[in-house]
Amino acid sequence: MIILGIETSCDETGVAICKDYKILSSYNKTQHIHKEYGGVVPELLSGVSFAKGLSQGLNIPIIPVNHLEAHLNSVFIEFPNLKPPFINLLVSGGHTQLWMVKSNFKYELLGETLDDACGEAFDKGAKTLGLNYPGGPEIEKISKEGNKKLIEFPRPMINDKSYNFSFSGLKTALINYIKNNREYNLPDVAASYQEAIVDTLVFKLDYAMKNFKINTGIICGGVAANSRLRDKLNELNKDILFPSLKYCTDNADMIAFLAMKKAENKNIEKNMDFSAYSRGITL
Ligand code: KG4
Ligand code: ZN
Repeated sequence: MIILGIETSCDETGVAICKDYKILSSYNKTQHIHKEYGGVVPELLSGVSFAKGLSQGLNIPIIPVNHLEAHLNSVFIEFPNLKPPFINLLVSGGHTQLWMVKSNFKYELLGETLDDACGEAFDKGAKTLGLNYPGGPEIEKISKEGNKKLIEFPRPMINDKSYNFSFSGLKTALINYIKNNREYNLPDVAASYQEAIVDTLVFKLDYAMKNFKINTGIICGGVAANSRLRDKLNELNKDILFPSLKYCTDNADMIAFLAMKKAENKNIEKNMDFSAYSRGITL
């Protein structure tokens, strides 16, 4: 079976061809126009319309794929033999969620952000610091020159017993720091801010793995590309897997791959009555 994956949910537009669980070819392109506005409302409907037209025109089945579910499954592209259960930390521009992946297509949401997503914290933090959009890679780059221990920004909700997150207070702490310290060193502030986000994510993933006695942890989504996050997770000395960078940020490969899994499970959706939603759905 050959599947064409189409991804247009945010500022990436991509297509990928998957045959028997192998990605044969893919092309993912970012729209830079959003830099000017510092972000994007993630609801590009063009992919859905295009896929529906193609399916009708060629009389071939169409498989709707939820963007978040595709992120959760992106790890299987490179680790096909991985067996659930595992805990999956989904960290993107719009979401920060901890999932228990129980088995194929069975997921339980353990917790999520109560306000800003961690990718948003990177993007808004970068804007406050006068850096470009998307803020994650910018903050990561400049942080390499800075002292991450210089400023003790809050680690939101790490003393809370839930699996939830909150990043809006951290963003406010950054704004206040900038207001109160006119002569700050940009790399030090960026590195300390990044460290607070990363510490919080690592803490919560580790906490969930311990509590549920699950030995395998996964991270996925755009923020999973962050090298400081990857280093800190490696320092845990646990079985933590990350997709390659190209499968962390939005890509059509993960869409085609999950569609293949769904098709094999005789789950092909012939109903054309679906659309795109900007806030994800409960899996
Ligand atoms: O998964 P993704 O590509 O799109 C969404 O589904 O939202 O995630 C985009 C987010 C942005 O907030 C961006 O700043 C962040 O991922 N991001 C990073 C890095 N690369 C992308 N954050 C931290 N470090 C990075 N290297
Ligand atoms: Zn995404």
